[in-house]
Amino acid sequence: MLRPTVVLALPPSEAEAVGAELREAGYATAVVQRPAELAALLDVGTDVAVAVLDGETDFDALLDYHVLLHEDGRAIPALIIVPAPMLERLLELTAGTSSADEYMSRPYTAESIRWRIEAMCIRSQTPTGVAEGPIIEQGPVDPTVWRQRGRVVAVFNAKGGVGKTTIATNLAAALATRRSKKVLLVDADTVTGHVATSLGLDQVVTLADVWREGPPADPVRSLVEIAAPHESGSSVVSLTASPLGVEVLEPGRVAAAIDGARAHAEIVVVDLHPSYSPLNRAIFGVADRILVPVTPDVPALRAAVQLRDVADQLKVGGRLALVVNRANSGVSVADIERTVGLPAVACIRSGGLLFVRAANEGRTVVERYPREGVTEDFEALADRILGLPRSEPAKRSVFGLLGRPRSLAGRGATGEPARV
Ligand SMILES: Nc1ncnc2c1ncn2[C@@H]1O[C@H](COP(=O)(O)OP(=O)(O)O)[C@@H](O)[C@H]1O
Ligand SMILES: [Mg+2]
Repeated sequence: MLRPTVVLALPPSEAEAVGAELREAGYATAVVQRPAELAALLDVGTDVAVAVLDGETDFDALLDYHVLLHEDGRAIPALIIVPAPMLERLLELTAGTSSADEYMSRPYTAESIRWRIEAMCIRSQTPTGVAEGPIIEQGPVDPTVWRQRGRVVAVFNAKGGVGKTTIATNLAAALATRRSKKVLLVDADTVTGHVATSLGLDQVVTLADVWREGPPADPVRSLVEIAAPHESGSSVVSLTASPLGVEVLEPGRVAAAIDGARAHAEIVVVDLHPSYSPLNRAIFGVADRILVPVTPDVPALRAAVQLRDVADQLKVGGRLALVVNRANSGVSVADIERTVGLPAVACIRSGGLLFVRAANEGRTVVERYPREGVTEDFEALADRILGLPRSEPAKRSVFGLLGRPRSLAGRGATGEPARV
């Protein structure tokens, strides 16, 4: 299928990387160095879906590009790379022209641009009228809203049983109930997922149920609309209840839906299946942060080491952070960080039967046992996700779970997890 053209008005090295990524996804790309080149392209009637503009290097050229995208009855959305302090000025200068523009700041990855563009294309195909209303917000972008645009936090380790679902559900609950955040919890474990069941939401409509009836006109809307409220304060949505339902869940579309959901939640927490499936890789592409739960045992650590080893290939390097789970006395965070070669952001102590009891009631430990130490651990993790400082360092110690420790560039060996 031939896809429309994406215009890249970026510095050459960035245009090259982003262009390669987009062409792999089937888009045509056109690199322009000056507004006159964009004008020429539009004059010959090129079908331009989105223009990626650099608002950081040359602000005046950015404004010229933007005018061209809206001249002669055109309304071509732009994905604008702009540092947050310049956004307000940009919004003033472009007020009234386009509400479909999106903004990002450096550093970015080519893959993140690709998924943003997928999401923008899907949204711009939405018939007018359907897009209006509470789900897809219209009208000028409020810069404060942009700054609060939700973050996507995925929870992943290719080993099962390390606490991905436990951490996803309790982190979501801590963010919602203890930090009053608007949270969307996505169960993207398409095989063994049990976020909904562990929260007592058994009969929920899943995304696969909806998409099985035909390709969604608006994937973001279909995802957000079926999310069910839970007592823990989060809205919860499952991709599928059956491992056989996945064929309708086209990875790019799911990732674009999750990416778009950040307009409706401050934090989107995504619980993943333990595998390197195309779906997971597409979701990695839109995640701002990938939390990697590890338990202090060799199989879990090995799986984390394996992830670190393929991180560059997966283009997730820099977004991975360990969460040391069942981190009771005798476990050194610094040793685990060195062994795996990734920074840790938090430790979750063992909660024993509290998890079983809470799950039997369809609740999270955070809600059910608010005074327990393990709930404090989830609050501390929530604060790291929100970028808040950590109150007290973790001090625990044991050595050599996987033989010789590796050094972790640029980090001290204090045993204190790094900031997200
Ligand atoms: N910190 C913890 N303390 C006690 N039990 C835990 C803890 N973390 C996870 N568990 C239990 O371990 C099991 C596996 O956890 P789960 O979150 O389902 O792992 P995953 O999603 O990685 O497969 C569950 O029964 C869960 O209740
Ligand atoms: Mg799980």
